[in-house]
Amino acid sequence: MTLSLLPAGAPDVPSSVTFATMQTADAARVNALHEQVFGPGRYARTAFRLREKAAPLLPLSFVAEDDGVLIGSVSMSRIAVGETHGVLLGPLAVLAEKRDLGVGKALLFQAVQAAHQSGEPFVLLVGDLPYYAPAGFAVVPFGSMKMPGPVDPTRLLVAMNPSVELMPTGVVRGTA
Ligand SMILES: CC(C)(COP(=O)(O)OP(=O)(O)OC[C@H]1O[C@@H](n2cnc3c(N)ncnc32)[C@H](O)[C@@H]1OP(=O)(O)O)[C@@H](O)C(=O)NCCC(=O)NCCS
Repeated sequence: MTLSLLPAGAPDVPSSVTFATMQTADAARVNALHEQVFGPGRYARTAFRLREKAAPLLPLSFVAEDDGVLIGSVSMSRIAVGETHGVLLGPLAVLAEKRDLGVGKALLFQAVQAAHQSGEPFVLLVGDLPYYAPAGFAVVPFGSMKMPGPVDPTRLLVAMNPSVELMPTGVVRGTA
């Protein structure tokens, strides 16, 4: 589904850039984008290990195109923290030659809004706080969530659904 309106707070992007929810048929070109942006080293990341069990949650994942060419994407997958089910955001990737145009933030805001609207209690990610804070992310209180591998605790970020009061605690695991 192509989207015409960006969420409140998302930056303007060039008018040739369009956004859509990710489709099954996008898998190969999203994978090619990840290969280009992250290279083979991505398989060693802790966040990747959480995602490897599950296909992306397509209604909460988005692609950006410019003239029909995939220039960015954001994926979401299902996880649980302790007993609470939620979603993991990532990878977020934009082609190097299309950066600093607002595409990354626009993808980010769309994915977070979709997760909140679909009732997901939280969105978790591993990333740099200055980039993600405007979309509602804060550092997870130290020690309250345990990732299945090494992660810099200052980069473990969560955006709670505004209607949820309690942040989940416990071991983070991928779920199908
Ligand atoms: C991070 C990324 C998705 C941003 O995409 P983008 O389309 O350039 O982002 P936007 O245009 O929305 O925002 C650009 C702004 O964010 C800043 N920014 C980019 N990466 C940042 C980071 N890691 N931390 C803080 N700020 C960052 C840029 O300096 C720029 O700042 P400015 O607006 O003051 O000039 C893109 O740089 C990318 O694909 N990087 C490699 C993959 C990656 O690191 N992904 C995130 C982890 S999964």
